[in-house]
Amino acid sequence: MTISVGSVFGAVLDPVNRHDPYPLYTSLRRTPVGREPDGTWLVTTFQEISALLHDPRVSSAYDPSTDPIGLVPSFLRTDPPEHDRLRRLATRQFGPPHRPTLVADLQQSFEGIVDRLVADLPASTADLVDQFAYPLPVLVICELLGVPLADEPRFKAWIDEALATAEHPRQSAAFRELADYLGDLVDADPEPGLLRALANDDGPDGRLTRDELVSTALLLLIAGHETTVNLIANSSLLLLRQPRWLDRILDDPAFVVPFVEEVLRWDPPVQFLPWRTALDDIPIGGTTIPAGASITLVLAAGNRDPGHVSDPDRFDPDRRPVQHLGFGDGIHYCFGAPMARLEAQVALRALAPVLARARLLEDPPEYRPSAVLRGPRHLRVALD
Ligand code: HEM
Repeated sequence: MTISVGSVFGAVLDPVNRHDPYPLYTSLRRTPVGREPDGTWLVTTFQEISALLHDPRVSSAYDPSTDPIGLVPSFLRTDPPEHDRLRRLATRQFGPPHRPTLVADLQQSFEGIVDRLVADLPASTADLVDQFAYPLPVLVICELLGVPLADEPRFKAWIDEALATAEHPRQSAAFRELADYLGDLVDADPEPGLLRALANDDGPDGRLTRDELVSTALLLLIAGHETTVNLIANSSLLLLRQPRWLDRILDDPAFVVPFVEEVLRWDPPVQFLPWRTALDDIPIGGTTIPAGASITLVLAAGNRDPGHVSDPDRFDPDRRPVQHLGFGDGIHYCFGAPMARLEAQVALRALAPVLARARLLEDPPEYRPSAVLRGPRHLRVALD
């Protein structure tokens, strides 16, 4: 997708609006399904997004021969039956049959990590992204996959470059370097963890090939931490701005569960899905998306659709049910959702006493460059 100067969506992509794209989404929803100047179709209302997420005429795939990196596509970017086979293979080690209690078992490990991170926060000022929200998902995903934590500075630099902007000459090189790194890791028999388990699993679908394993590893490494960091940071920012919710968490730790769910609706870490293609003409929202068109599903706009939820701009964790698109929907529904929820809940419970004595030093804070994976780059606070 190219930035169209002057279009409302162009303004969404513009970093100056990163701190608050929501009024722009309100304008976009006036045309639930609309064509951008570059030919991309934008979908911004709940029902239409949800329908397309379940529509087999909408593809997530691309032509691998056009991929400058030459990787086989991960299951995020494939359609059935390929998608289902790859996802089934990955799921076997991420839940039943082999690891049915994996997520529940992780709770203790999460608690240990967050307690250490909280204890290590400096006494007077802290950056809650660099010193809390970022390290937690990295520690978790490295442990889960069996990726050595000592290598984190290397892959963080590649991931930052790979996700920095829409078009960037270093982007492909950074993906390539990350893929080579993961390939070397897989070839050298990784540490105990998901990668080793996947490499050695013989199930009804056979084994993942080496290239499929590298693509799956790349997907899990990126999806597993560039999103959760934003969920924790967006939640922390909200708690600093609206401390009444902090009091509720401190009074009742179980309140963190509906709180996190409402953050996923109100300020979701994944704002839109930019890589769908129509495989056929699709009549929807009073118009027809033509076969071959690119489609961007603006999850964050759908989450605040007044046709779906009343008073959508108000943050209200007491609303029931909280039905949102924060983890997508349909066959590509987030693979890591149970883990991400638990991680954020444990993190915010432990951070709540710190937030209660914290003052935001920069509001709005600086944001990460990505409009898709949107969240604060830093959250600098003074601690009293
Ligand atoms: C708050 C944190 C997270 C958010 C908001 C999030 C959001 C999403 C969304 C919106 C999708 C749908 C993508 C699409 O339809 O094209 C997705 C898919 C996916 N997520 Fe997450 N995610 C999070 C955490 C995680 C974690 C922790 C993992 C891994 C452990 C993970 C792994 C995946 C994978 C593998 C997919 C692809 C699923 C498929 O194509 O079938 N995610 N995620």
